[in-house]
Amino acid sequence: MDLTSYTSNLYGRAVNTRSDAYGFPVDEEEMQRLQSQHYMFILLTGGKYPPEIKKVLESSTHGEKRVLDIGCGNGDGCRIRDVARDFPLTECVAMDLIPLINTPGQPLNVTSEVHDANLGLQHYYGRFDVVHCRLISSGVKDYRYLFEEIGRALRPGGLVEFAEVDWYTYDRHFRRIDVSLDGAISPPYWARFFAHVRSAIKHSGGDSDAATYLWQWVSRHPAFERINSRDVWLPAIPGDDQQYSAAAYELMKKDVQAFLRSGEPMLRGGGMSEEDFENIRENTLRELHESTEPQYTRLHCVWALKRADYVTPTQEIN
Ligand SMILES: C[S@@+](CC[C@H](N)C(=O)[O-])C[C@H]1O[C@@H](n2cnc3c(N)ncnc32)[C@H](O)[C@@H]1O
Repeated sequence: MDLTSYTSNLYGRAVNTRSDAYGFPVDEEEMQRLQSQHYMFILLTGGKYPPEIKKVLESSTHGEKRVLDIGCGNGDGCRIRDVARDFPLTECVAMDLIPLINTPGQPLNVTSEVHDANLGLQHYYGRFDVVHCRLISSGVKDYRYLFEEIGRALRPGGLVEFAEVDWYTYDRHFRRIDVSLDGAISPPYWARFFAHVRSAIKHSGGDSDAATYLWQWVSRHPAFERINSRDVWLPAIPGDDQQYSAAAYELMKKDVQAFLRSGEPMLRGGGMSEEDFENIRENTLRELHESTEPQYTRLHCVWALKRADYVTPTQEIN
């Protein structure tokens, strides 16, 4: 499929034309990065799914159970394709700002929907048993609103899963590294790069704080029970961190290298000069290979079940 009608070119990368909030590329290079990042998450978290998913998707009837992945990405290794393969009787909907490209061997129980989640999920109320969102906060203008919409799209007994980064960087003691973006370009460079990305996301209208509030929203909402949360500390600059396998660090390094390029349209489009961008990028690459001081990104994961007896108040439906 040709994606040109869904994208425009910015600093050599294809970015989506549907939503002005989401500024990362949506091209082949980015899809390769997301695919490899998907495998990395499986290694870092030790599995593909929350344990509850099996029971929620248990069925012997084709199409009885339905799964929605909001902002699914496009690579062959994207999460909704895993669900479709592992639960072949489910009907899977892959929602994104660009269509899912068919690949050889793609499971047939996946359909693609081009939709901006910022417009709401009214057409999906009460239709899904699992709703999954991972790393979409930069393209979501009001995540709290989307969270409420997901609550309505879920069927009673359904499972919701979120995984978002908070766009801060943390040191070896998991203390936040605060970086001033005024003044000279100085280390730590990954933290600096990430702080620029955070600022660009805010500037374009994305909800960079969603990860900070997700647990609170879910745990205070009367519709949800059996709420779980987990922080996964991603060793963006591995330093002397040794908690994961060598394969996981290799994938992490590959991801950071590619992500430095993914940030270019947002940062340079937001006014950063090429010289400053390359300065930060090259110094981050040096840190990646030479620094002994780890820098972490926090991936906050929250999952919960919708109460089987929850009745959505009528004034919320109307
Ligand atoms: C960083 S990628 C993550 C992809 C996938 N969820 C994963 O974890 O590999 C973010 C994806 O969300 C999509 N996205 C961002 N904002 C969106 C929105 N408002 N509505 C629908 N999709 C969106 C982007 O097009 C992109 O494919």
